[in-house]
Amino acid sequence: MVQVAVDEKVPVISVTGGNPKPVLEKFEGTDTKKLVLVAAKRQAEKAEELGADGVMVVGHEGGGHLGRDDIGTFVLTPEVVDSVKIPVIASGGISDGRGLMAALALGAEGIEMGTRFIATKECVHANEVYKRNLIDANEHSTVLIKRSIGTPARALKNIWTDQILELEEKRSWV
Ligand SMILES: Cc1cc2nc3c(=O)[nH]c(=O)nc-3n(C[C@H](O)[C@H](O)[C@H](O)COP(=O)(O)O)c2cc1C
Repeated sequence: MVQVAVDEKVPVISVTGGNPKPVLEKFEGTDTKKLVLVAAKRQAEKAEELGADGVMVVGHEGGGHLGRDDIGTFVLTPEVVDSVKIPVIASGGISDGRGLMAALALGAEGIEMGTRFIATKECVHANEVYKRNLIDANEHSTVLIKRSIGTPARALKNIWTDQILELEEKRSWV
């Protein structure tokens, strides 16, 4: 997939999940802008050192997979802004213009939204029921799963997340 992105000369890539070094190296000498998704200050500093053009900082409020340090977007964003020279994009729990303004006030150059874009007409891959549940959700509607196996992720609470949490509690997959 990375080679295809290099061959196709994509203008921007987003790198996540583990050490970004091998992926960033493949884009050396290209015009592709390399963004690295980070969830901690040390990861942002590392990404800058490795040649990232910007970092996307995901706070604990974010949907999907998260960092292991449970640091909220409001705390993490200014910490990272103060620690790197490359542009910082704030992410996690942002879904409207108010969140954008707050992120800019914290020193971010922009925002990344994930969950909000799922509940759009253009997101044809998401089921309508899922979209409706996102729209109807409130601040109590999500839950953190898979923390016990080192890959915490925020998901909408449902029968599956209940079962996953139950298994995690019992550690019955061991
Ligand atoms: C269903 C879902 C799947 C996601 N999958 C990925 C992924 O494959 N790669 C990735 O870098 N981030 C992924 N994310 C995280 C987003 O890139 C983004 O960091 C996160 O959604 C930001 O928080 P927000 O959902 O509160 O806007 C996913 C998020 C969600 C909700």
